[in-house]
Amino acid sequence: MADHEMPDPGCSTNTSMKLSRRDIIKSVIATGVVSSTSYLFRVSRVWAQASAPGAVDRLITLNVNGQQRRVDVMKQETLVMTLRYKLGLTGTKIGCDQAECGACTVLIDDVPQYSCSVFTHTVRDKKIQTVEGLAKPDGTLHPVQQGIIDEQGFQCAFCMSGFMMATVGFLKVNPNPTREELAHGISGNICRCQDYDKILTAMMHGAENLRKA
Ligand code: FES
Repeated sequence: MADHEMPDPGCSTNTSMKLSRRDIIKSVIATGVVSSTSYLFRVSRVWAQASAPGAVDRLITLNVNGQQRRVDVMKQETLVMTLRYKLGLTGTKIGCDQAECGACTVLIDDVPQYSCSVFTHTVRDKKIQTVEGLAKPDGTLHPVQQGIIDEQGFQCAFCMSGFMMATVGFLKVNPNPTREELAHGISGNICRCQDYDKILTAMMHGAENLRKA
């Protein structure tokens, strides 16, 4: 379910009760979506702001998850805003919006970066990958995603897509890390549930999956 959507009124309580925690985690991993209404207020505030003096709207092409996407961006527009609110890629989350939590992490040319702190117009010639681009077109999950399912590695999962992207990026340079190395490698990501030990176990499982793939 997308952030702004209300629960399906036709969904019976009995059906909801039958969903296991594993089912819920699996659906969240596949879409990168968790419920939050705070974005609705945040985005309306951002879009209500006038462009800075001298700013010029630009129609640019971005390479996102292997696709060429044409989009209008303002000079001061951040990548996370473009991804979420213009390209509909809401798997990338906004937590702090000031480069402190890692919820907005995406890969830019295979390097994990906070998309809340990158101006969209600066990545026109780069390859952007979001959580939506991890699974294969046939729906097969990325080994790191599968590791999270296997270990049920998150509580609320708001931070999950950021952790996944940080881990996938780190494993590109160190595919066989120790637990300590991986912990250090993804230490730019924060979990408000503070479930770090379980997250790390899931990510180590994902790393193992990736080596076997
Ligand atoms: Fe970008 Fe927190 S939202 S680092």
